[in-house]
Amino acid sequence: MARNKIALIGSGMIGGTLAHLIGLKELGDVVLFDIAEGTPQGKALDIAQSSPVEGFDAKLKGVNEYAGIEGADVCIVTAGVPRKPGMSRDDLLGINLRVMEQVGAGIKKYAPNAFVICITNPLDAMVWALQKFSGLAPEKVVGMAGVLDSARFRLFLAEEFGVSVEDVSAMTLGGHGDDMVPLIRYSTVAGIPLPDLVKMGWTTQEKLDAIVERTRKGGGEIVGLLKTGSAYYAPAASAVAMAESYLKDKKRVLPCAAHLSGQYGLNDTYVGVPVVIGAGGVEKIVEIAFNKDEQAMFEKSVQAVSGLTDACLKIVPALA
Ligand code: APR
Repeated sequence: MARNKIALIGSGMIGGTLAHLIGLKELGDVVLFDIAEGTPQGKALDIAQSSPVEGFDAKLKGVNEYAGIEGADVCIVTAGVPRKPGMSRDDLLGINLRVMEQVGAGIKKYAPNAFVICITNPLDAMVWALQKFSGLAPEKVVGMAGVLDSARFRLFLAEEFGVSVEDVSAMTLGGHGDDMVPLIRYSTVAGIPLPDLVKMGWTTQEKLDAIVERTRKGGGEIVGLLKTGSAYYAPAASAVAMAESYLKDKKRVLPCAAHLSGQYGLNDTYVGVPVVIGAGGVEKIVEIAFNKDEQAMFEKSVQAVSGLTDACLKIVPALA
């Protein structure tokens, strides 16, 4: 059987890390695409040269033409510009929206059967626009945020409890921003929900509140440390987990920015919710029953996302 083909649209820090991880995991052949000449070619060659040492078989190729992504089974999109000093969120949104327009057209023409994972920020608005620009079925276009936000939450919890990250399960929903919704009630250590662990005296509510706050600001903490860029190892690992679930039909339950058509009382909205990812793409959207506080937090987060999609509509009214 021929190997899967995975196209990485954007070959910057996350794109390069994605290519490396996909090679190490032997998930398929990789095409790196970028508008910068030489960058995708250089990264592809460098990673390919690590394959004899690591012992993986994968073809890696760098391209500057969309024709190179033809027939891709998965496309992971990181193309865009990061927010620079002096640039407002709206400036960033306007620039990356135009990038999504180009990327969507490229995918529509050359990889209309792909499963598409968007990482470009502002995430929930960009994946919403990308689905429309590409014309792909909504269940084949998702955004990566929840897996990353939940991984951060899990790490901080594992450190607090002094246990393996493997035994911590956590769920972060809503939009990918400061208003995201880390769900304490549905997060567990070896199946024991966090509120029970507070009752057992293993931690305090104050410590959990601090962890939630750190999770919400997880991306900013890394930017503050790196100074010249944003996170890329954990974002790449998170998107690879989603791609793997699709390619291997694992049907993992992962929090992803997914297209809602009635679920959670929302329509034509992309926002982070738990979904089952299998060979059909997003095969099921899991509707959690929120309590009053969770519902209020989710609504606030959805409002922030709506603000971003409204701004997109002002720039490109045809997205309506
Ligand atoms: N088409 C294709 N690639 C593009 C385009 C475009 N129109 N515009 C920019 N790019 C490329 C850049 O040349 C660069 O190589 O996108 C790449 C982005 O890489 P980085 O700047 O290194 O950004 P990265 O850290 O990989 O993050 C990418 O993910 O988490 C989000 O906020 C982050 O939106 C950002 C994205």
